[in-house]
Amino acid sequence: MTKILHPRPLRGSTAPEPRPTSARFPLSPYPTGWYLACWSHELGPGAVRALDCLGRSFAVFRDSQGAPHVIDAHCPHMGANLAKGGKVCDDTLECPFHGWRFDGSGQCAHTPSSSPNPAKIRIPSHPVIEVNGGVFFFFSLAPGASPEYSLPPLEPFNPLPRGWRRPRFFAHTFRTHIQMIAENGFDVLHFTRFHYAAEPPRLDYRADGPRMTNRVAGEIRAPGLRLDLRIQFDLYGPSFLLVTTTEPMAGKYMLTYLPLDPERCLVRGLVYFPRTNNPLLNLIMPPLLPRIVRRNLLDEANIWEHMTYLAKPRLSREERPTRDLRRWYAQFYEA
Ligand code: FES
Ligand SMILES: [Fe+2]
Repeated sequence: MTKILHPRPLRGSTAPEPRPTSARFPLSPYPTGWYLACWSHELGPGAVRALDCLGRSFAVFRDSQGAPHVIDAHCPHMGANLAKGGKVCDDTLECPFHGWRFDGSGQCAHTPSSSPNPAKIRIPSHPVIEVNGGVFFFFSLAPGASPEYSLPPLEPFNPLPRGWRRPRFFAHTFRTHIQMIAENGFDVLHFTRFHYAAEPPRLDYRADGPRMTNRVAGEIRAPGLRLDLRIQFDLYGPSFLLVTTTEPMAGKYMLTYLPLDPERCLVRGLVYFPRTNNPLLNLIMPPLLPRIVRRNLLDEANIWEHMTYLAKPRLSREERPTRDLRRWYAQFYEA
C-alpha cells in the first residue's frame, strides 16, 4: 500500500512563478503529476537535498522518523535556501540563516525570536510518496491541486523473488520537453529506424483517466535472426512509466521524467530482470541492460534535442497513436 504524505499542498509560493513556455515548445512546460525527487538510497536518515526543477527550488529531506518530505526551498523569513546548509532537527528542517524551523507539511515550528508567531507562517509543501526505491512528489501549477491518482508498486520488486537480479539505475538529461519523450512510445514509424524493429509494431492501447496501457507486439531484427518483441507500457500521468517485457527476454523497467526547465528533461529509471538458464547472459546482462536502455534513449537524443513541437503535424493514417497520445496527455496541463 502506497502512503501519500501531506495530501493537500498549500496555496501560494515563496518562489517566482515559472517561465511559461519556450520558443521550441509552445506547450505549458510543467504538466501536473508525480515527479521523482531522488532515489530512496540518496536520502539517508536526516539527509537534505536541494532540487531545482519545474521552474523553482525545492528542499527534500528525511525526518527523524524516516519520512521523506518535499517543501519549497526558500525561507519566508529572508529568502535563504533551506536545502543549502539547512539541517534536520527532529522532524523539522532548520534554515541555515537564522534558524527558523519547518516541518514536512511546511508549517513553521520554531523561530528563535518572539515574533512573528510561527503558527501563522507556512511554506508550500508537496504530497510525497515513497515507492519502488524512489521519493516522488506531486506538483501542479494550479494552486492547491491534489493528486487524483497514486503510483503503483512495481511487481515483483520488494522483495525481489528468488532468481531476480537487483535493480540497476540510470539517468540522462535531454534538451527537450517532457511530452516529446512520452510521445515516443506511440510513434509507430520510428521503431524501424531506431529500435531494430523489422516492421512498424502493432500497438494496442487503452486510456483510463490518468492511466494509459499500451501493448506493443512486433519483431526485432538482429544480425542473422529475428526475435519476437512483446512489451507493455503502463503510463501513470505525464511523468511515470512502467515497462514490462516478455519477449525477447523478461524484464521490468521504470522510467521517470522530470522537467528541469522548459527545454531540459531529466530521465531517470531502473531496470531489473530474472536470472536466465544461460550463464553467459547472467554474467553480461546486469551491466549491459541498463546501457542498452540508455543507448536506446540516446540514439534518439539528436532528434529530441533539435526538434520543435508542431501543434498540427502532418501525420499519416497509421500515426493515429501519436494523435491519441497527445489528446490523452493534454489532461495534465492546467488551462
Ligand atoms: S532566512 Fe531563514 S531563518 Fe532567516
Ligand atoms: Fe524511440
